[in-house]
Amino acid sequence: MNRILNIVERHTHHGSKRRHGTNMAIMRKSKQFRWQHKHLIGLRDLTAEEINYILDTAQGFEQVSTRSVKKAPPLRGKVVVNLFFEDSTRTRNSFALAASRLSADTIEFTKKSSAVSKGETLLDTARNLEAMGIDIVVIRHNAAGAPKLLSKNINACVVNAGDGYCEHPTQALLDVYTIRQMKGSLEGLKVAIVGDIAHSRVARSDMWAMTKLGAEVTFVAPPTLMPGNVDQLPVRVSYSLDEVIEKVDVVNMLRIQFERLGGNPFPSIREYSRYFGLTVERMKRAKSDIVVMHPGPINRGLEMESEVADGKNSVILQQVKNGLAVRMAVLFLVNQAAAQTTA
Ligand code: CP
Repeated sequence: MNRILNIVERHTHHGSKRRHGTNMAIMRKSKQFRWQHKHLIGLRDLTAEEINYILDTAQGFEQVSTRSVKKAPPLRGKVVVNLFFEDSTRTRNSFALAASRLSADTIEFTKKSSAVSKGETLLDTARNLEAMGIDIVVIRHNAAGAPKLLSKNINACVVNAGDGYCEHPTQALLDVYTIRQMKGSLEGLKVAIVGDIAHSRVARSDMWAMTKLGAEVTFVAPPTLMPGNVDQLPVRVSYSLDEVIEKVDVVNMLRIQFERLGGNPFPSIREYSRYFGLTVERMKRAKSDIVVMHPGPINRGLEMESEVADGKNSVILQQVKNGLAVRMAVLFLVNQAAAQTTA
C-alpha cells in the first residue's frame, strides 16, 4: 500500500490535506496485509480482508483519474490482453482504460476478428498470445470456468471479466466499493438483488462480496428466474419486490438476459415490469436514502423506469466511474503478486 500511495503522491503536485488524511488512514489499515493472488477468478474464495484490501487499493488509485495527466507508472513495460469472447461496453473499456492509466501496453482481442472463428481453441489462442510476451489476460467468456482453466495453463496473470453464470468479480467489487462510498460500510445493510438471478454472474459475485462484508442479501425474482440451488446460498429469498422494497438500504436491479433465456420466463414484459420493475410508484415506498444500482446495460422500462434510472437515488454512473479505480487496483495487485512469486 505504501508503494501505491507513493506512486499516487509522486505524481500529484497539490495533494490536499483531506486526501492525505484519507491515504494515511488507508495505509494504517492495510499496513500488515500482503496481497498474494496472481489471478482474480472469483470472490467466493476471497476473505473479507482481501476484498477490503482491493477496495482500499482502489481508493488510493482514484485520484489518478482527477489529474491533468491521467497516468501512473506501475505497469510500465507490461502487456495486458483484453480477451473478450462476449460483447461488453463497460467492463472492456474500463479494463482498457485502467491498463492505460497504469502505463501498460494493451492488446484488444475479439472473437469475431480472430482465428477462433477458424476453430482455434481458447488455450491455443492464449498460448499464442503468451508467446508474444503478455503479462495479464483479462478474459470474458460464455463458459463458466474458462478463466480458471486459463489460469492453470498459462503463466500470465488471469483476471475474470465475467464467465457464464458463474462470477463477475470486478463488477461486484465496484458495486461494494460504491455502496461503501455511499453508506460508509456494508455491515448490517439490507440489500435486495432483483431480477434475472438465475442467469446472473453479477448476482453471484455480489452475493459473495456483500455477505462477506456483513450485508444481508435478499434475492428477489419470479420462481422462473431464481437459481435452482438458492436454498444452499447465503441469501434470503423473496418472490415479491413489494414485500422488500420498504425495508432495504440498497436495491440492485439486474438486466433480463434475453440472450440466455431458453423459453419465456414470464407472460409478458408488462407483467414482469408490473411485479418486478423499479417504478416511480414503488420508489415512493422505499427509504428516502435507498441506493439504486444496476450493472448495465439497462432495459429501460423493464427493470426500471427511466425516471428512477436517472433519479436522485441512482448511482449507476457512479458505479461505472468507480469501476475504473477498482480495475486499476486489480491489475496492479495481480501484477504485484506475480512479481513476488517470480522474485
Ligand atoms: N456490467 C457489465 O458487465 O457491462 P458490460 O457487459 O457492458 O461489460
